[in-house]
Amino acid sequence: MSFLDTKPGVPLLESDNLVRHYDVNRGFGKPGATVKALDGVSFTLEAKKTLAVVGESGCGKSTLGRQLTLIEKPSAGELKINGNTVGNLSDKEAKLFRRTVQMIFQNPYGSLNPRKKVGQILAEPVLLNMDHLGRKEREERVRETMAKVGLRPEFFQRYPHMFSGGQRQRIAIARALILEPKVIVADEPVSALDVSVQAQVLNLMMDLQEEMNVAYVFISHDLSVVRHIADDVMVMYLGRVAEKGPTEEIFAKPLHPYTRALLASAPKIDPAHRVKAEPLTGELPSPINPPSGCAFHKRCPFATEECAKVRPELRSFEGREVACHRVEEIA
Ligand SMILES: Nc1ncnc2c1ncn2[C@@H]1O[C@H](COP(=O)(O)OP(=O)(O)O)[C@@H](O)[C@H]1O
Ligand SMILES: [Mg+2]
Repeated sequence: MSFLDTKPGVPLLESDNLVRHYDVNRGFGKPGATVKALDGVSFTLEAKKTLAVVGESGCGKSTLGRQLTLIEKPSAGELKINGNTVGNLSDKEAKLFRRTVQMIFQNPYGSLNPRKKVGQILAEPVLLNMDHLGRKEREERVRETMAKVGLRPEFFQRYPHMFSGGQRQRIAIARALILEPKVIVADEPVSALDVSVQAQVLNLMMDLQEEMNVAYVFISHDLSVVRHIADDVMVMYLGRVAEKGPTEEIFAKPLHPYTRALLASAPKIDPAHRVKAEPLTGELPSPINPPSGCAFHKRCPFATEECAKVRPELRSFEGREVACHRVEEIA
């Protein structure tokens, strides 16, 4: 039995109150401060499903992604895979975990070595993790994976700069998929692409999910992008969860005032389906000194005195989880 074996009734990936704080130096003579980038986020991800993580820039999405992929160590909370606490894994197991939970970034050019050909870039993870494969088998695997993501065979010999943004993202997806991971954490994978190319890459990711049985944590600041790809949506605000639930329901009837405002502000959502709500006003407050009570209260059209004083906990309401004192009244 390995920690990678699935167990019935146990989620593939589970985040239990994950916290990541950063101590920062604010300059000479000023006291240090703590950035509460991620301040207690919980969710479960089932195999072959997609969880979208959305919210304005600065709300902690990338920080969450770095904790899920072990790029960083959380300040508190637990990450579990198939019910096993990741913090308790041996070094060898942690290496296996990294192979099983891969990451894709917004800017593939930054993460692809410009001096290496596509064939070499894709062969590298195979070389490092599957040393039983000979050169020929390795190349075979690279070529198969390139075909899966729609890269032509002759691209094997080309360098990353010779590709368009969309093609580069296909290379990054191929690199993430080549070791057959169970989870891909995709951090704004289409945000830098033209709208038409965005749709192609999203469709590719959905097809690959079917074919490779991979689950996605799909991070996006743009709610409209996740509508077709995500099974569930988790809306984050200042390092915490504002609302979480099935995608269709969130789009049909967003409950949290922040989710409503995000939907009302999303430019790409068909006006006929657009939620009638006040669009977002003001700026995201600093996670160094977050507002008291509900962190959204200063921007919320429904805020009361209670909202300014008492922090709302996430609770079940109409089949989702919402952190709002007034959800019953405003739903
Ligand atoms: N290494 C770090 N040191 C200090 N602050 C950080 C660090 N990484 C992120 N932050 C801060 O944490 C908050 C969340 O950042 P991030 O996770 O990048 O948000 P998002 O991806 O949603 O835009 C921001 O205020 C950001 O400035
Ligand atoms: Mg980010």
